[in-house]
Amino acid sequence: MDGTVGLGGHSAAILERSAPDGFLIGFEWNEESFALAKERLAPFSGRFLMVRENFAHLKEVLEELGKVPVDGILVDLGVSSFLLEGSGRGFSFLRDEPLDMRMDNRQNLTAKDLVNQLSPLQLEELIRSFGEERFARRIARAICEARRKSPIRSSKELAEIVLHAVPRGREKKIHPATKTFQALRMAVNQELENLKRFLETAPDVLRPGGRLVVISFHSLEDRLVKHAFRSDERLRVLTKKPVTPSKEEIARNPRARSAKLRVAERI
Ligand SMILES: C[S@@+](CC[C@H](N)C(=O)[O-])C[C@H]1O[C@@H](n2cnc3c(N)ncnc32)[C@H](O)[C@@H]1O
Repeated sequence: MDGTVGLGGHSAAILERSAPDGFLIGFEWNEESFALAKERLAPFSGRFLMVRENFAHLKEVLEELGKVPVDGILVDLGVSSFLLEGSGRGFSFLRDEPLDMRMDNRQNLTAKDLVNQLSPLQLEELIRSFGEERFARRIARAICEARRKSPIRSSKELAEIVLHAVPRGREKKIHPATKTFQALRMAVNQELENLKRFLETAPDVLRPGGRLVVISFHSLEDRLVKHAFRSDERLRVLTKKPVTPSKEEIARNPRARSAKLRVAERI
């Protein structure tokens, strides 16, 4: 099972390596990625089934499909370049797009709702806990100040507000709005809740000897994965330290730089 098909890079590789009779079930909740991946993976038809579902619901979905147990499960928690650059939903502070940030457009809550409706304290807590942002209070205040004049509607508007709220010159390496955008994206898509639910139930659907692989891109996720793997009696951890990309891989694909891959085996 690939829990995060995206545009199908990993899925295609798994299908190639598991030829001639390996069967892959792919989960992808984003409408556009789902359609593109289906097209890309069409050559594997007969060995591939794709569902537009949240990987947090893997147990119910796999049971319904009669596909339990599976031999392996992969989830890649990165934000796809497609979502950042091609979705038009305000994931990137470098673009001027409606502040939406829903990966799955069947959901109701958007980033615009959070930014315009949460109390100053709720916003501060969200930005601090999901963004690990030290200037969370200043940013939350600036957002509340700005929205008093008119609702905040676009990614660019929000990026400008954050940029002016944080002290200059402090954040040299990354754009000052990076963490705020991360926090909103995580809240809108309930990313940590989904990951927790996934980690609790994935061992239920793995056959003994089957493997669970998670690639995460920031410490909040990696911490959850590390602890879940360690504390689950059904799992044996195969990666004492996470696998990280080589210098060559980072040179080829800079977005891989913070990736951490952990693997556990079902006992
Ligand atoms: C980094 S991309 C995956 C890239 C993919 N591994 C590849 O090789 O092309 C992550 C994808 O997971 C999807 N996604 C994130 N959370 C999800 C969830 N809870 N359920 C289903 N899909 C999810 C996103 O929509 C996105 O397309």
